Amino acid sequence: MKVLVIGNGGREHAMCWKLSLSPKLTKLYAAPGNAGIAEVAECVDIAAKDQERLLQFCKKKAIDLVVVGPEAPLVEGIVDRFEKEKIKIFGPSKYAAQLEGSKVFSKEIMRKLSIPTAEFEVFDSADKAMDYVAKKGVPIVVKVDGLAGGKGVTVAQSKPKAMEAIHRDMVKKVFGKAGEKIVIEECLEGEEASVIAVTDGEAVRLLASSQDHKRIHEGDTGPNTGGMGAYSPAPVVTDELEKELLQKVFMPIVRQLKEEGHPFKGFLYAGIMVTLDGFRVLEFNVRLGDPEAQAILPRLKNDLLDVILATVEGNLSRVKLEWADETCVCVVIASHGYPETVEMGKKIAGISTAKENPDVHIFHAGTKIEGGRLVTAGGRVLNVVACARSMFEALSKTYSAVDKIFFDKMVYRKDIGHKAVRVMK
Ligand code: AMP
Ligand code: GLY
Repeated sequence: MKVLVIGNGGREHAMCWKLSLSPKLTKLYAAPGNAGIAEVAECVDIAAKDQERLLQFCKKKAIDLVVVGPEAPLVEGIVDRFEKEKIKIFGPSKYAAQLEGSKVFSKEIMRKLSIPTAEFEVFDSADKAMDYVAKKGVPIVVKVDGLAGGKGVTVAQSKPKAMEAIHRDMVKKVFGKAGEKIVIEECLEGEEASVIAVTDGEAVRLLASSQDHKRIHEGDTGPNTGGMGAYSPAPVVTDELEKELLQKVFMPIVRQLKEEGHPFKGFLYAGIMVTLDGFRVLEFNVRLGDPEAQAILPRLKNDLLDVILATVEGNLSRVKLEWADETCVCVVIASHGYPETVEMGKKIAGISTAKENPDVHIFHAGTKIEGGRLVTAGGRVLNVVACARSMFEALSKTYSAVDKIFFDKMVYRKDIGHKAVRVMK
């Protein structure tokens, strides 16, 4: 089979690596890919948002299957467009992708299906939103409705911070149309986890659980990022919690979308908070998490291409997912300044030495080849991943690989997995 993967991050490198192991694969392309993906796929210089050129490319190369990594093309309707052209594509339709593309859509569907989530109200006027915050008090959470590159959520500890967020989103319109409506919700306390399912619109299979580390600094401090590291499984997601999530979250959502005539097909990610009163769903994403995928996919025993094909063809009920009984850790190495402005073009050294240990994977994110050398080309640069029988061993393998890698002013968190280690003590 000829497969095209759309995207250029660590998640897409992990997906391409896993797909490249499939005996069914004859040729793998990635658009636009990155320097690491180029080791397992042929990279094509077409942006993930350029649907027209992607479509032409698929027709020209007679691509058998397209796999979409990031959310933006899904929310923009790439699946509907390609399906109309009879091209097999893995991911949800534009309608179903609203679960991530619109916080209002996702909160309202949760309310309708009685899915546990933070109490909320929706606003389309800044004045009313500010009156609500004045009445409710803090802490409180302000979220723009649409996609905002991970920057649209403000967890406000003071009223001025909440008012400032409302002003930024609705008056200054920093996120444009994405901020025409906002959701204001109760601030929850607890431990976060990522639980991702794959569904063909009817059958649902849970992937192994994981936990992301969203803040830039150790001890979960500093601004939110796309994710600074992950591990799988997450001990906070017990077998009982997985069952509960399947019955109270994933099955009802999948059933509801099918009834509405828009069955969900693809990865459905629930970001949850485990509170003292049980779980709450914080958000849905309509794709694999990044960096969660980098810690989950190395543990998957199945052929990923088989799983994706079964999903696209509506045969997921025949698939049983199997997982290596190991812990997998991913540490993200980022450029100095991330998540704000970063310097790029720094030479990267040590990757081949780090990869000498066969249990270590290096998944690239912002990298490229310049003048024959590997250099940095983004905020998040590399994902260093290792699996082992215990968390301690996985951490030690991952960090000793990180120690072998160098570029000027690189940053990474030294406390990935700290919550899981605490649970095991
Ligand atoms: P979201 O995009 O909705 O997942 O929000 C991004 C991050 O903001 C989450 O991963 C949480 O760390 C935090 N967050 C979102 N909603 C809440 C909430 N209701 N209470 C506390 N923290 C939240
Ligand atoms: N790591 C969080 C996300 O992919 O949204």
